[in-house]
Amino acid sequence: MTKLEEQIQILDFPDLGDERGNLVVVEGGSAIPFDIARIFYIYGSDEEVIRGKHANLKSEFVMINVSGTSRVKVDNGHESRIIELNRPRMGLYLKSMVWKEMYDFSPDSVLLVLSNEHYDPKEYIRNYDDYLKMVRK
Ligand code: TYD
Repeated sequence: MTKLEEQIQILDFPDLGDERGNLVVVEGGSAIPFDIARIFYIYGSDEEVIRGKHANLKSEFVMINVSGTSRVKVDNGHESRIIELNRPRMGLYLKSMVWKEMYDFSPDSVLLVLSNEHYDPKEYIRNYDDYLKMVRK
């Protein structure tokens, strides 16, 4: 059984800013633990919305609230944890096969997501019971 703490990681990016303001750089293969193939961002989601609710056979992700805050519930079928994304220098790295739910979006939340894979709906597991069967067998 893989431990959740081995499947996720909180990343802390350095601030290269100066008196002109903040600057955060994330490069694939160094600050980001994979080569970046896809970027998407989520904004305008109300506080009561729950997004995600899926796991991925192949995709890994790094999530960054570049503005505002949100919460991510991560779950591997055995353990779960809630992580608040609340600063632009913080990243949440998720390996493949982690179930995730994003919620509690602040009105100014912009959730930036980086992935190692191009979008492929076939590698998304969207049914939680199917997910549990896969990770518990
Ligand atoms: P969905 O996976 O439900 O978003 P979230 O994970 O934020 O809840 O995706 C919503 C729609 O957008 C769905 O029709 C699939 C499409 N989509 C893409 O075409 N490419 C992508 O990279 C993503 C994340 C979604």
